[in-house]
Amino acid sequence: MAGPELNLWALGSLLLIGCLLEVSRTQNKSGGLTGSLVFVFHLAGGLILGVFWGALTSGVVKAIAQTIDRSSWIKATFNVSERILSVGLTFLVYSALGGSFPPSFVDPAISRQIPFNVALLEIGIFLISALVYFVTNSVAVNAVVALASERPILSTWRANTVWVLGYDLAASTLALLVTWLFLLSNDSEGITRLAFLGVVLPLIMARHIYGKLNGLEEVYKELDRAYEELEQNVREQLAMMVKAIEARDPYTSGHSRRVCGLSSAIARDLGLNPEEIEQIENAALLHDVGKIHEEFAPLLQKEGKLTDEEWTVMKTHSIRSAELVSLFSRFQGYVVACVRHHHERWDGRGYPDEISGEAIPLGARIIAIADTIDAMTTNRPYRNALPLEVVLSELNKGRNTQFDETLVELTVNSVTVRRLIADPSSIPEYLPQSRSRSRHGGNSRSLRSATPPFRAAGDVQ
Ligand SMILES: [Fe+2]
Repeated sequence: MAGPELNLWALGSLLLIGCLLEVSRTQNKSGGLTGSLVFVFHLAGGLILGVFWGALTSGVVKAIAQTIDRSSWIKATFNVSERILSVGLTFLVYSALGGSFPPSFVDPAISRQIPFNVALLEIGIFLISALVYFVTNSVAVNAVVALASERPILSTWRANTVWVLGYDLAASTLALLVTWLFLLSNDSEGITRLAFLGVVLPLIMARHIYGKLNGLEEVYKELDRAYEELEQNVREQLAMMVKAIEARDPYTSGHSRRVCGLSSAIARDLGLNPEEIEQIENAALLHDVGKIHEEFAPLLQKEGKLTDEEWTVMKTHSIRSAELVSLFSRFQGYVVACVRHHHERWDGRGYPDEISGEAIPLGARIIAIADTIDAMTTNRPYRNALPLEVVLSELNKGRNTQFDETLVELTVNSVTVRRLIADPSSIPEYLPQSRSRSRHGGNSRSLRSATPPFRAAGDVQ
């Protein structure tokens, strides 16, 4: 078995680099495995140091990493033995196939004299040896994982390894580059020898940063999942509250959802941005939610007209609604304001605050129109639903007094709204959907594409 003389500088450098790579390795999400680019240095170590010292260096690096990780002695023994076996077997095959330590075509001292076909042969021998490394490593590691999880060894190996073997084999050629860099600096004297570490250490740092970004991507995904769940819970709670109110007043069944659908149509026709549309939809859905309070129950069920005193109580429902809606932290601000002011009038004669014109939030002005349309287009105990022309003329009458003239203009000319008014059954009983599904989508995509796929070489975690 041919081998180079022991080079202490090579031994020290490779031990340092190997340890740094082991410490910065990243979690393989497909199973209980970890993977990193450390195999590049195991392969380079073998090419530079030969079979014995290469295998021993790999074993020592693994032992140090296992000690830092405080792995159990069974796992540590397995991982160290596996690493020595993989590297040892790889370079025994390499040596048996006629490979030299280091490959002559990457040795700057003689590479110019190496014929092209010899260089090609050396690359071929190296790649076959690298394949031996990956197969030995992955079969050993996946066999343990398969035994531990009581899954078939072959399917576990296929799932965890086969798809990245090509990537890892391509990445293994980096070992030739590392070897060349080492030999280049090794010929130098004094401080220039450190050039090798000066080139390689930043690469390790870059890999470490990729690893961290990979971790961040998982955090982003978790946040997105939590956010989705929260959104779903909120929507379910809202739907429940709205149904509870409408159960008290059979004549207004579906009213809030229809007002939500109409408000959404007007807001879309206005060309508002998706987030504002969503806020207006939520405010529209909840505009009367305060009517769930006990004091409104007799008023909602009363057959005849309300007395002045009863009206005074009824008019407090927008404040009571805003109070309830403000319990949801995500609705504080604009949504609460739209709910509070949905009975304000353009001329300032509305309630509760008698504000006028553009001081009334746009969403509240939209909901006021949608609310009135739904009241006119549904059957009430005292009258039937009104036809389209009457509804449009009532809206026109309210220009600049009850409603924002610009919004009335837009509403009566909106094909969508006219269709909804003409056929109220087509007004969707609508629940707002979140339009911002991923809070971190952009980041996730860029992080994902930035993460290299090297994962086949690993150990038991
Ligand atoms: Fe109301």
